[in-house]
Amino acid sequence: MTERDANKRIQVLRDEINRHRYLYHVLDTQEISDGALDSLKNELEALEKEFPNLVTPDSPTQRVGGMALDAFQKVPHSKRMLSLNDVFSTEEITDWEQRIQKIIPGTNEYFVELKIDGVALSLVYEDGILQRAATRGDGVIGEDVTVNAKTIEAIPLRLQGDHPGTVEVRGEAYMPKKDFEVMNAEREKAGEELFANPRNIVAGSIRQLDSTIAKSRPLRFFAWEITRGISTKTRDEEYEMLQSLGFPVPPNARHYKSLAEVFAYIKEAEKKRLNHAFQVDGLVIKINNCATYDRLGVVGKAPRGAVAFKFPAEEATTIVEHIDVQVGRTGALTPVAHLRPVRVAGTTVSRATLHNADEVKRKDVRVGDTVVIRKAGDIIPEVIRVLPNLRPKNSKPFHMPSKCPICGSAVEKDAEGIVVRCVNRECFVREQQQILYAVGRAGFNIDGLGDKIVEQLLQEGLISSAPDIFRLTEGDLLPLERFAEKSAKNLVAEIQSKKTISLPKFLASLGILNVGIVTAQDIARAYKSLDAIVKLSKEEFEKIDGVGEKVAQSLVDFFESKLGKGILQEYCDVGITVQEEVSAGPLSGKTFVFTGTLQNITREEAKQNVLSAGGRIASTVGLGVDYVVVGEDAGSKEEKAKKLGLTSINESQFASLLKGTL
Ligand code: IVH
Repeated sequence: MTERDANKRIQVLRDEINRHRYLYHVLDTQEISDGALDSLKNELEALEKEFPNLVTPDSPTQRVGGMALDAFQKVPHSKRMLSLNDVFSTEEITDWEQRIQKIIPGTNEYFVELKIDGVALSLVYEDGILQRAATRGDGVIGEDVTVNAKTIEAIPLRLQGDHPGTVEVRGEAYMPKKDFEVMNAEREKAGEELFANPRNIVAGSIRQLDSTIAKSRPLRFFAWEITRGISTKTRDEEYEMLQSLGFPVPPNARHYKSLAEVFAYIKEAEKKRLNHAFQVDGLVIKINNCATYDRLGVVGKAPRGAVAFKFPAEEATTIVEHIDVQVGRTGALTPVAHLRPVRVAGTTVSRATLHNADEVKRKDVRVGDTVVIRKAGDIIPEVIRVLPNLRPKNSKPFHMPSKCPICGSAVEKDAEGIVVRCVNRECFVREQQQILYAVGRAGFNIDGLGDKIVEQLLQEGLISSAPDIFRLTEGDLLPLERFAEKSAKNLVAEIQSKKTISLPKFLASLGILNVGIVTAQDIARAYKSLDAIVKLSKEEFEKIDGVGEKVAQSLVDFFESKLGKGILQEYCDVGITVQEEVSAGPLSGKTFVFTGTLQNITREEAKQNVLSAGGRIASTVGLGVDYVVVGEDAGSKEEKAKKLGLTSINESQFASLLKGTL
């Protein structure tokens, strides 16, 4: 091939390679496979090798340059590289806007873009060719990292379209999350130290003296500013211009007409922050009009015309107070770390899943450990790692139990040897039913805690027994299906408002075999305090009216069991107050029996009303009964009441009695 032909071919190859670079990095599309593109690059490289005088600095082959450097040159920035002031709430954004109004009154539009968690670079182009790339440094003087920046394919080596002699563009070098994970996995295999986050690798790669290292790392770039050479009226236009010059810009950037619109977008962006292929740590909000932005000037090290809205932190450290094991609906045993409560991602977290025995072993999480936890958007909080230097002496590794912690049945590993399951199929459902019963009308009467929610709470390890309900925080509920901030807040408030309970209801809520609300009342009437009741012997229980041998046995079994003692202790720990005597009320001392179907309320509701008004419920008609409430299709109880000469009342009379108007 003659040099002339080679030159022609080289030109078309470069244009074509650049076009594919633009398609991939700026337009997010791909026309030909990576393999095919490599093939074009190989051809270009071979031709340039044959005709070295045809090599130019903007050739796609020049992305790795020569020898390793001894040190980075210090370079002054043409204009100071500023940072941004952080804001954490919509109130702070409103304050920012008000400060701006004082300086330049008028209506503003806002340009909002994703804030990329990477490393800022300044790129200077002379006659369209990349001349110099520099880090921020102290904002005034940076380091010349051109050789490394050139390895980043998303950075054009030559500008596209029309452009003046000198152009400076600034933006953020970053690494996609997937590539970060792959790199770390490889390092783990090789026994090398892991990088803490993608930003970390980018910073490390950009500052490597040997550019082959940066080349081997899949770095990317988003441009966010034209600093010199081209000015635009608005940020929208600036972003369009950046793209036409050949730069990728952060996705979803656009202008909003008012702060109300910005706030609506913030809400959405917060939810989606994890869906991006790269790490996003907030939003940058700028005054859209460039002239206004410039006139607003600089305060300290930041422009007055922009702020960084930071998403709440996703990670925090805390201490593992204990580890317990939950049993899920499928019988799977899940270890859960109970944590010293900590604020993370805007809510309080007190529990985090440890997934399974393998994970606990891999991470070696122990009671007393200081751990890093992550709570990301709608994800259940999890323990990421232990900080070994902060581990207390004498800590012991955690082992999964060999028996089901709920029912004591045997456990077995699944085929993959990861999930441990309880072999008793009834186990979880019974647990769920017990909790539902305790929080239901017969017990604590917590509104809004239905079976679906209790199932999820158990499944996710947020509760393992009824007392745990009182430990729930908004942060625990938010990740669950169906919960938004308001509903989570309401449910927590409802739960907290139900921490005082009457003695009979409390006894009934314990779910002791054969002990329903009627028996619970009998016991409460005979012994007025919980402290007295828990100490009773079987014989003493049997002496109570309405308590037979079988019931007495299950009572002592429960109060003497580890499980029973544990539950009572937990209720005490979470601050439940058991009212010592049956509360006085309009029906105080009166006993009711219900028969037949009520029309306006359920029988269960009617019973609750009696109890709340201080009355008692009997299940059978007898001489101690004061009122027999007769509904439709009443059965033999009505007859019996008549025979005994008891007072029978209908549903509306019962309602009046409750209101005190009968
Ligand atoms: S605009 C005054 N837009 O965040 C600088 N910056 O914490 C104007 N950053 O210094 C910056 N993503 O390094 C802008 N979409 C984005 C950004 C972004 C990340 C960085 C940038 C800035 C720092 C401030």
